[in-house]
Amino acid sequence: MTPATMTCIEIARPGGPEVLTPATRPVPRPGRGEVLIKVAAAGINRPDLLQRQGVYPPPPDASDLPGLEVAGTVVALGEGVAAPTLGAEICALVAGGGYAEYVAVDARLCLPLPRGYDFVRAAALPETLFTVWHNVVERGRLAAGESLLVHGGAGGIGTTAIQLAVARGARVFATAGGPDKAKVCAGLGAHAIDYRAEDFVAVIKEATGGRGVDVILDMVGGPYVARNIKALAVEGRLVSIAFLQGSAVELNLMPVMLKRLTLTGSTLRPQATDRKAAMAAALAAEVWPLIDQGRIAPLVHATFPLVEAEAAHRLMEANTHVGKIVLTV
Ligand SMILES: NC(=O)c1ccc[n+]([C@@H]2O[C@H](COP(=O)([O-])OP(=O)(O)OC[C@H]3O[C@@H](n4cnc5c(N)ncnc54)[C@H](OP(=O)(O)O)[C@@H]3O)[C@@H](O)[C@H]2O)c1
Repeated sequence: MTPATMTCIEIARPGGPEVLTPATRPVPRPGRGEVLIKVAAAGINRPDLLQRQGVYPPPPDASDLPGLEVAGTVVALGEGVAAPTLGAEICALVAGGGYAEYVAVDARLCLPLPRGYDFVRAAALPETLFTVWHNVVERGRLAAGESLLVHGGAGGIGTTAIQLAVARGARVFATAGGPDKAKVCAGLGAHAIDYRAEDFVAVIKEATGGRGVDVILDMVGGPYVARNIKALAVEGRLVSIAFLQGSAVELNLMPVMLKRLTLTGSTLRPQATDRKAAMAAALAAEVWPLIDQGRIAPLVHATFPLVEAEAAHRLMEANTHVGKIVLTV
């Protein structure tokens, strides 16, 4: 029996990690096409920090609770749902509401637990894989034999992007702050660049015989934008998924014309559920087999109980983590 109420984490007001407050709310009811998940683990993502600070509001139809990915058990089905079935152990992309004991989600955004996975590792998959798939493969059109530069290579998105691109036959470069994080990127198969000690543009030019890379996945922005454009090869694609160092830049666009570059980017959360369902189907077909083979595996840095979400956010803000931070419920 599903209880009437649940424990969740609310954002009491915009602010620091201390505004994350345990609260009691009604358990959501699955609508048409949705399933209710009893959450066992929920991944933390940097957009959660931005939402908490009040600078990344949830889309109008999404829960106001933080949390973009979960793993758990299906305990109720909305009208018209054929799969997944009751009792199925799954992970799912949610548009909010993951920091809770229960969450309702469109059935098409559920994916099976990969072979041998527990809920913690499975909860670390959806947000980064949907994001990396959409931006590196669908937007960046990275092909086997091409090259990719990933910034923030040691983070949740970064470690996933390196593994996915390596597994799909690309040559991968990754930037990271400090030798320890660079070593992690190298261990995943990237040519690692410690940006505190080296200039990534110079390293890439040198390593590619002056050609540059085909695709860049950037979350830094600011001063990186012009340097990214320098590091791109002819017909290169720059995909922006965040602007940790600012989105307002003054830029000479001449190289965009001369090198026939594409500048693009996206945010995952506000995209239509149909679009996300298409991404889920592509992940099931193209990426889940790579996870089952162990060629892509999340790096879980730390876990915290749900009610200690504040400590989990403090850890992510300290920027010392490698890979993912996960809440257990
Ligand atoms: N557009 C989308 O759909 C979408 C979806 C999910 C996430 N994102 C964005 O993707 C980024 C990565 O998310 P994540 O969950 O993987 O976070 P994460 O694990 O914290 O990784 C972010 C990495 O960026 C680096 N970093 C942090 N602050 C920085 C700063 N001020 N300047 C430069 N580098 C900085 C850190 O690496 P070093 O210590 O090595 O510098 C860190 O490892 C976030 O900005 C997030 O908002 C976008």
